[in-house]
Amino acid sequence: MRIEFTEDVLDLLRMNVASAAITTSLRQGLFWDLVDNEWDTSDVAKAYSIPVERSRAYLMLLLEMGLLEEDGGVFKPSQRAATCILNAYGRDSWGVLAVEAEKYYPTMTDLNSRISQRVSVLNAQPGIKGYVEELQDSKEYAKKFTIMLAEMHAPMARELGHHLKLDGVQTILDVGGGSGIMSWGIIEQHSQVTSTVIDLPNVCEVGREYATSMGWTSIAYHPLDIFNDDLPREQDLILMSDIGGFSRDLFAKFRDSLKEGGRIVHCSNFDGFGYWLSHGAERPGLLRRMGDLIFAMMDLDHETPSVDDVVTALEQAALAPVVSTVLPSGLVVIEAFKQAG
Ligand SMILES: C[S@@+](CC[C@H](N)C(=O)[O-])C[C@H]1O[C@@H](n2cnc3c(N)ncnc32)[C@H](O)[C@@H]1O
Repeated sequence: MRIEFTEDVLDLLRMNVASAAITTSLRQGLFWDLVDNEWDTSDVAKAYSIPVERSRAYLMLLLEMGLLEEDGGVFKPSQRAATCILNAYGRDSWGVLAVEAEKYYPTMTDLNSRISQRVSVLNAQPGIKGYVEELQDSKEYAKKFTIMLAEMHAPMARELGHHLKLDGVQTILDVGGGSGIMSWGIIEQHSQVTSTVIDLPNVCEVGREYATSMGWTSIAYHPLDIFNDDLPREQDLILMSDIGGFSRDLFAKFRDSLKEGGRIVHCSNFDGFGYWLSHGAERPGLLRRMGDLIFAMMDLDHETPSVDDVVTALEQAALAPVVSTVLPSGLVVIEAFKQAG
C-alpha cells in the first residue's frame, strides 16, 4: 500500500473504518455465508442483527474494497475474496486472525497525545492479553489459535522439509512446536525422523488431538516450559519456528540439549520481512512496521529482532557455522551447528 495521490492520503486518514469492517466481516463469517446463501442487504441485516439502514453502508464498503460483488441486489464474495480469503485459510482461522488484530486497536487510541508519554499504553488499557497468556488460560482459544497457525504454516513447513539436508538426523525437538506442523513438513520429506513437540499444556493437548485427526504418528507432544524447565538431551536437531523470544542464554541451553554435531534450526518470516527479502526488497514492509509501532506503544524497551540479531545470539552461544537462507515464501531458515569435539 503505497501513496500515489492526495486522495490516497485522504483514504488513509479513514482506514481504521475499512479495518474495522473487514475484521467484523471475518468474525461474522460473512464471506462463507454469502457463498452458501443468496442474501441481499436485508438478509444480511437479519442474519447478523444489524439495523437494515446500516447494513447497506457496511456491504457497500466491502464492495468498494473489492471483496464483494452485487448482482440484482444479491451479494457474493468477489473472485479476489475467494483467492485471498476463502481459499487461503478456513473460517475459524480468519476469525482468530481478526480477533487478534482487533485486540491491538486500543494501542492506537489517542496516539497523538500518548505517543509522547513515556509510559506503556497498557497502563490505560490493562485488558490487552498477549497470545501466550491466552493460550495458557483457555483451551478453546488454544485450539483455534493452534489450528489457525497450522493452516498458515503448512506451505512453509513443506518448503522447509524440501530445503533441509538431514543425513544422520533421527530426532527433532520442536520447541514451542504448537500443532507440530513444521515437524510434519520435515517428516514428510525425511521419513526416518521422529519429533517431540514441547509446548504449553493446553497447546500440547490440542496438538495431540490435531495430530491424531491428521494421522501423524511420528510426532509426540510433551508439556514443558522452554524457558524454565530442563529439556531432553542428546537431540539431533532442535527446531524453533516462529517463537518470539530468543537470547544467547536460551540458545546455550538448547546447545546443551544437542548431541555433538547436532544443530538448531531457527525459522521465522520476521513478521513479513522475509517475504520482502525473498522479493529483493530491503525494507521490511507495512505489516512489520505497524507491529513495531504497536509494540513500541506497549513496551518502550521492545526491539523487534532482525535476522542479524538471531545470527549473533547463535554465534555468542558457541554454535557454528551459522547459515541462513531465505526461502521463496519468505521463511528465513537459520541453521547453527554444535561442533563435535
Ligand atoms: C507462534 S507459535 C509457533 C508454533 C509453531 N512452532 C509453528 O511454527 O507453527 C509459538 C508457540 O510457542 C509456544 N510457547 C510460548 N511460550 C512457551 C514456553 N515458555 N514454553 C513452551 N512453549 C511456549 C506457544 O504456546 C506457541 O505454540
